[in-house]
Amino acid sequence: MTKDRKLIIAGNWKMNKTAAEAAALVAELKRDLAKVKEVDIVVCPPFTALSEVSKIILDSNIHLGAQNMSEHARGAYTGEISAEMLKEFSVRYVILGHSERRQYQKESDELVSKKAQAAHAAAIKPIVCVGEKLEEREGGLTEKILETQVRGSLAGLTKEQALETIVAYEPVWAIGTGRTATPEQAQSAHAFIRGLLAEIFGNEVAPKMRIQYGGSVKPNNARELMSQPDVDGALVGGASLEARSFCGIIFNSI
Ligand code: 13P
Repeated sequence: MTKDRKLIIAGNWKMNKTAAEAAALVAELKRDLAKVKEVDIVVCPPFTALSEVSKIILDSNIHLGAQNMSEHARGAYTGEISAEMLKEFSVRYVILGHSERRQYQKESDELVSKKAQAAHAAAIKPIVCVGEKLEEREGGLTEKILETQVRGSLAGLTKEQALETIVAYEPVWAIGTGRTATPEQAQSAHAFIRGLLAEIFGNEVAPKMRIQYGGSVKPNNARELMSQPDVDGALVGGASLEARSFCGIIFNSI
């Protein structure tokens, strides 16, 4: 499969895996994925496993991501983690504005944009998540929601920063439900998002930006999803928790 943009497939482990379990999983991934060059491979363990995982993937083709970070550089923010702290473990990516954080921690587009700017200031690439809820899709509001989220969450980024930003389209109704978007639904949302990116950052930038799909990606649906023209990778939840299924997704995508 050839596409100008290199596929990026990331595992979002969410609140799963102790440091010891994470180490075991990533050691398997390192062995099984050693020959893969066609895809940027990223794992996003919980904060408490970043140190262990970072040691194991040193000198491998697996990159490290975090699942969140503070919009602040330092200071009196109990319980928060800064970009600088992530850099210590060679974190290269950070998931921002995941729908679970938007829902449970009430994260707004404005907050996500501040975090994205803080990530760029530390040369960490943000993976900015957007996506509509089921009732919004059924109410014909998908594009309106995506437009608000994309414009709000990427506000203030320069063109250069946009090129180092990944957008993840994750329809909320497809997350953890086993109900994936059809390849046509994914392509249509991704094409719409790319159109917005062109309006915001220009026609030079938008075609170079990568847009991941997330929501019940499995080995058996990865190929069709990844072959859509505007789908440039996957953000994988449940299926990233086992080496066999995560590797299956990657091998079926190349
Ligand atoms: P699932 O793959 O479990 O549906 O989760 C998707 C997701 O939320 C990735 O960020």
